Amino acid sequence: MVTILQIDSSARKQGSVSRALSKAFKSQWHDKYSKDKFIYRDIGSTPPEFISENWIAAVFTPEDKRTGEHSSLLASSDLFIDELTEADIILISTPMYNYGMPASLKAWFDQVIRINKTFTFDLSRGDFPLQPVMSGKTLVLLTSCGEFGFAVGGIREEMNHLNPHIRSVSNYLGVTEHHELRVEYQEFGDKRHSQSIKDAHSSIPKLIEQIAKKYH
Ligand SMILES: Cc1cc2nc3c(=O)[nH]c(=O)nc-3n(C[C@H](O)[C@H](O)[C@H](O)COP(=O)(O)O)c2cc1C
Repeated sequence: MVTILQIDSSARKQGSVSRALSKAFKSQWHDKYSKDKFIYRDIGSTPPEFISENWIAAVFTPEDKRTGEHSSLLASSDLFIDELTEADIILISTPMYNYGMPASLKAWFDQVIRINKTFTFDLSRGDFPLQPVMSGKTLVLLTSCGEFGFAVGGIREEMNHLNPHIRSVSNYLGVTEHHELRVEYQEFGDKRHSQSIKDAHSSIPKLIEQIAKKYH
């Protein structure tokens, strides 16, 4: 059985292009592999809390010295990390907001990427002291943007702080394989947008086939 952690991060439910992509991916995966398990987190509707000074203090307090207050501060983080640990595949759908990820998704990453849980830190490793604890996970990143040209070589490649940022931080989730689909032109609402939606949706079956090969 394969476990897929699905994270939707659009603030909107009505008309969300990115949620439509993850919904299609999930239903097509489920049609083929009905025994696989989906864990669902709607962080767009229920954003994780931002980390705080007390949260950081709790993280750096050794487990056997943590108070009840520390434990409750870390409860969401513990739950999100448990969900991540169980997942073979991480399916993230996200809009581009201000050329990057929504604050809700960043808050989730901040809760999940945690010392001695998802990464270790050791200065004897030299210039790269951080190392992920987990490995072998696959990330499927489904995005939607209002403008266009964010792909490599596109006219707004330099302004795309969404995909490169998620690729960098996903290393600490244990991701070693990445797949991405992107819809663009949402704000233009023209034929280019409908074509972009069509292209992304028509890529899903092949993407599922490619990923499933590794697990089934
Ligand atoms: C607060 C906000 C900021 C946005 N910033 C950008 C942006 O920087 N670049 C862009 O191309 N589109 C931007 N958009 C457009 C969204 O990326 C686009 O509407 C996308 O389809 C939203 O995802 P959703 O359809 O899943 O809700 C922004 C939209 C909102 C609401």
